[in-house]
Amino acid sequence: MKILAVSGSTRPGSLNTSLLRAAADVAPEGVDVELWQGIGDLPIYDQDLDAEEPPESVRRLRADWAAADAILFATPEYNGSVPGGLKNAVDWASRPRGEAPLLNKNVAVVGASMGQFGAMWAQADLRRILGIAGARVVGEDLPVTHAHEKFDSEGRLLDPDLEERLVRALETLAAESTPVPA
Ligand SMILES: Cc1cc2nc3c(=O)[nH]c(=O)nc-3n(C[C@H](O)[C@H](O)[C@H](O)COP(=O)(O)O)c2cc1C
Repeated sequence: MKILAVSGSTRPGSLNTSLLRAAADVAPEGVDVELWQGIGDLPIYDQDLDAEEPPESVRRLRADWAAADAILFATPEYNGSVPGGLKNAVDWASRPRGEAPLLNKNVAVVGASMGQFGAMWAQADLRRILGIAGARVVGEDLPVTHAHEKFDSEGRLLDPDLEERLVRALETLAAESTPVPA
């Protein structure tokens, strides 16, 4: 079972990307978590660009997301919602209508922030947006609060409770998903 891990943050020191790397480390047997990076390469969604031959970065997004058995998103919160770059990627992946990579795709949402709420508004918005885009949103939110205190300098998780919740999120997502035929 291949779960694609998509971070809503492109910065190298991203806590959300660290969370996904930690998820890859603790993934249950038979679950392969693979980090996908390409959000920063996408142009701003433009219906006129979304023609017969869309840009290469968009084709890559659509091929990779379509091939994933499930997708785990980790979102930061910017001004109370999903970062623009992540929303833009969801917009690209919500088309073409009827054969969009997100259509009926099993997805789960987690999120990390340095504050006390753990990106919970961004997670709620992302779940809503993904649902509108046609995805099946599985499991509960996983708000990671004070995220800058949750990893050691090597990016390993310091919080056993968080590790357990991450494992449970992956187990739930994997249990709901069936492998996409190759
Ligand atoms: C433009 C901007 C807006 C932000 N707005 C919020 C917010 O509304 N709520 C929150 O909890 N944190 C907010 N933050 C803090 C981010 O959650 C924090 O920087 C987080 O570490 C970003 O995720 P990353 O480490 O994965 O890049 C904001 C940060 C930036 C740069």
